[in-house]
Amino acid sequence: MQTDQIEKGIEELGPWFYAHEFGRGLKTTPAIPAQVVRIHDTRLAMVQSAVAEEFGSSAQGISCLDIGCHEGFYSVAMARHGMHVIAMDAREENLNRARFVAEASGADIRFHQGRVETLAQDEGRTYDLTLFLGVLYHVEDPMLCLRQVSAVTGRMCLIETQVVDEVEGSTEWGAQEWTRPYKGILALIDESGEFDAGNRETGVTPMATCPSPKALLFMLRQAGFVRSEILTPPPDAYEQHARGKRVVCAAWK
Ligand SMILES: C[S@@+](CC[C@H](N)C(=O)[O-])C[C@H]1O[C@@H](n2cnc3c(N)ncnc32)[C@H](O)[C@@H]1O
Repeated sequence: MQTDQIEKGIEELGPWFYAHEFGRGLKTTPAIPAQVVRIHDTRLAMVQSAVAEEFGSSAQGISCLDIGCHEGFYSVAMARHGMHVIAMDAREENLNRARFVAEASGADIRFHQGRVETLAQDEGRTYDLTLFLGVLYHVEDPMLCLRQVSAVTGRMCLIETQVVDEVEGSTEWGAQEWTRPYKGILALIDESGEFDAGNRETGVTPMATCPSPKALLFMLRQAGFVRSEILTPPPDAYEQHARGKRVVCAAWK
């Protein structure tokens, strides 16, 4: 793409959520608060480190599905590693920006609209790597979504999510002396304010759920992943990852 075309796209498609870099000094300025922009450095570093560990130094030819790709920030990063990337999102307005970002970056990525809730049927295939970043805590039926994500994952899925504080204990189960332990909790979150305001990051319904770390691991196992692990953030991680309020989790088929 020519410089003037990129400048025009940056201007016309804003406001932007990410700091996309196109070279030649061309970049987008994210509309999110400056102190939050760093979150993407941490997430990208953690994704790249997990990818390098799993696929080695060459991810050339690896197939990748970016689920809830937004403006394609992570899709483009994976394409730069030589992966064949397909990316999907529920919002056409996000996909329009993602298509521009990919083209301006010289990345060959196919984008399509869809919902996580119907992923398995829509895709009809598996991918070596699936990215499920920043989406789980925006959906109202996390188990349905994780089953769908599992169905399209051939080898490894990277999940990034907000988590709520762990709640442990046990509940009575049919009689006072019969009990069952909790396997973690799901918090119910009201996102109707953002949803009704047309926010581009929410789920497709105003109700969201947020898992505790143990609930996340338990749900991943129930969804068909044989092993899953919450990854250790780097020493300079964004404050939420450093404090364990957001996690990056790797899950294997
Ligand atoms: C918070 S953003 C995260 C974007 C990106 N994956 C990241 O980690 O930076 C959530 C994205 O998921 C999309 N999304 C939310 N619910 C979805 C659903 N049920 N199916 C598909 N996409 C969804 C939104 O449109 C938005 O682009």
